[in-house]
Amino acid sequence: MRLAICPGSFDPVTLGHLDIITRASKLFDKVIVVVMSNAAKSPLFSQVERMALLNKAIAEASITNVSVDCYDGLLADYAKMRKATAIVKGLRAVSDFEYEFQMALTNRKMYPEAETVFLTTAAENLYLSSSLVKQVARLDGDVSDFVPACILPEIKEKLRKEREI
Ligand code: PNS
Repeated sequence: MRLAICPGSFDPVTLGHLDIITRASKLFDKVIVVVMSNAAKSPLFSQVERMALLNKAIAEASITNVSVDCYDGLLADYAKMRKATAIVKGLRAVSDFEYEFQMALTNRKMYPEAETVFLTTAAENLYLSSSLVKQVARLDGDVSDFVPACILPEIKEKLRKEREI
């Protein structure tokens, strides 16, 4: 069985993520989307909340060979534990490349059995990021073109609570 891991912080999942997950699901027998920590980011949604949003978006997209998990350690250790064939990442622009390339080489050093596979983002998602979604939503902008429709209420509710604090 060819198993791929699709790691990320998914804070929150965007239509760009969902496109990469959907396309990965067609290339591999099984895909595990793993919610991980990015040392450079402090997330808005908790790990459990990010998993719930992903599960909702994946169910709505009717992708059946994809499951959601979370892991706090190294991606290479998770890939090894799951005996993954591939680590799938989405590439948007050249600006993504250097960092992604560095991570791919490091992960290969730690777990050579998993190949990092880069899928180029769909042109309409080129500019899209979770940070942009949060920025627009915080200023009451409409993010319905950026995230799966089913998670819009959770984003609104989270930001409402954030404003209360
Ligand atoms: O969606 P992101 O924030 O770009 O995803 C980055 C992520 C979470 C995949 C990356 O930070 C990661 O792999 N974190 C797990 C810890 C780890 O393995 N770090 C070393 C990477 S070489």
